[in-house]
Amino acid sequence: MDHTSDKRTDRSSDAQPEPGSAPKDPPGSAGSGFVVVANRLPVDLEHLPDGTKRWKRSPGGLVTALEPVLRSNNGAWVGWAGVPDVDVDPIIEDGLELYPVPLSAAEVADYYEGFSNGTLWPLYHDVIVRPEYHRDWWSAYVEVNRRFAEYTAKVAAEGATVWVQDYQLQLVPKMLRMLRPDLTIGFFLHIPFPPVELFMQLPWRTEIVEGLLGADLIGFHLPGGAQNFLFLARRLAGQPTSRGTVGVRSKLGVVQVGFRTVRVGAFPISIASAGLDELSRRRSVRERAAQIRSELGNPKHILLGVDRLDYTKGIDIRLAALQELLHDGRLDPSETVMVQLATPSRERVESYIQMRGDIERQVGRINGEFSRVGYPFVHYLHRPIPREELVAFFVAADVMLVTPLRDGMNLVAKEYVAARSGVNGALVLSEFTGAAAELRQAYLCNPHDLDSVENAIMSAIEDDPEAKRRRMRSLRRQVLAHDVDRWARAFLDSLAQDRVAGSALLPDNTDEKDR
Ligand code: ADP
Ligand code: F6P
Repeated sequence: MDHTSDKRTDRSSDAQPEPGSAPKDPPGSAGSGFVVVANRLPVDLEHLPDGTKRWKRSPGGLVTALEPVLRSNNGAWVGWAGVPDVDVDPIIEDGLELYPVPLSAAEVADYYEGFSNGTLWPLYHDVIVRPEYHRDWWSAYVEVNRRFAEYTAKVAAEGATVWVQDYQLQLVPKMLRMLRPDLTIGFFLHIPFPPVELFMQLPWRTEIVEGLLGADLIGFHLPGGAQNFLFLARRLAGQPTSRGTVGVRSKLGVVQVGFRTVRVGAFPISIASAGLDELSRRRSVRERAAQIRSELGNPKHILLGVDRLDYTKGIDIRLAALQELLHDGRLDPSETVMVQLATPSRERVESYIQMRGDIERQVGRINGEFSRVGYPFVHYLHRPIPREELVAFFVAADVMLVTPLRDGMNLVAKEYVAARSGVNGALVLSEFTGAAAELRQAYLCNPHDLDSVENAIMSAIEDDPEAKRRRMRSLRRQVLAHDVDRWARAFLDSLAQDRVAGSALLPDNTDEKDR
């Protein structure tokens, strides 16, 4: 897909969507046999200062993972175009059908910035910041989930498979099932599913669990998330309601809801690793990587961070660790450089505004103390980087720093490994990422323990090169063998099964010897 093409924008208009209005008829009359439903489309509509518009790639790991899956399955994608108050016609291009769901500015504020990212995101990420509970945010979440369900019901062909994605759309499975009982519905959560004690804070906990139970198969990254959900389903969804009590029983990997069986399992997501490996070997990328090293002043060690600018990612923690290492003289600023690439994210949400200010002050303090003229210690870019340029950074970096306080998976860790075709380089990885369950040969650290982060960074820099190669070889075996295609097949094959298979709870893709 050409993410910068503006050909398709001619069909967009700035008409205000009427909240709750029925979606336009999709262009294909028979509907699609395979439909992905996600908060965002894989492309965002961008308004340029000269008044024109264009499409650009949407941020985040969900799009990175699902775009190749949709492409190989010839499916349709239902999602928001990333800007409020714009009604865009469906787009059919390169075999992909994109169906934009309109959101008003008030819905973006209450459903997306509010309930999705001010309530659910912090609650599901270990309450790193305090979740806020507001009734009007919840009402908007219900309303927008209903719109997504109605839209999807129009797009999906008779008997189609619909794959609903992530925390923004947890009510869609139940709503969609009521509209279209003929559909096979899967749901996958891209972020952690929280411990029971935290989830129980949510005033609308029962509605969320019941919403998810509308699916035939519910997928999480890790067995722990699946277990948390199974416990909650038993505890919450069998409660008496105004319509009587629904019998809910759960056992390993299965929830029985009345006469329906819902399967629950762990499916650790991945990346299109072979394509990334191939891209990293290209001469143009290698040359650009060498040029990056030279532009940085040919330092002995290049350290790299690549993240959405999000408080879960622990950017502040890696900067604090580096500051202390410099201060203690364990790192020499004349031979080391840190590059932090940070994609802007959720820029109107208060906690993100504060965090950006904190991180930028931290960068300023480190550079003020440890840089030389013309040679900053931290190079900080607050913008998305084009794919090929990003891979050149992965190739150039001697050490990759992935230090989240909590992360469902973290695809950046896997991307770095896939891009190290020279089987060198080192990955520092937080134990609090889903990726750490598979990438056991990374330099693992506890982001709550600064000594642990500092020691992991120093080991990643100073270890014997042969020891680093051994680790990288093992990491690459894991990432190249367990790619996004395998993840999607595992989920979709399981969804297609008629019969109950309780074994879905255990992931099959961790090398036994790496556990
Ligand atoms: P999340 O889904 O929370 O954003 P992931 O690490 O799983 O986190 O996925 C992030 C995706 O966004 C990866 O594909 C990564 O390469 C991409 N990405 C992150 N930061 C940048 C950046 N500064 N420029 C371009 N792409 C980025
Ligand atoms: O998986 C995490 C996730 O929230 C995805 O749902 C989303 O696409 C991505 O991060 C980026 O976040 P946002 O859509 O809020 O910019």
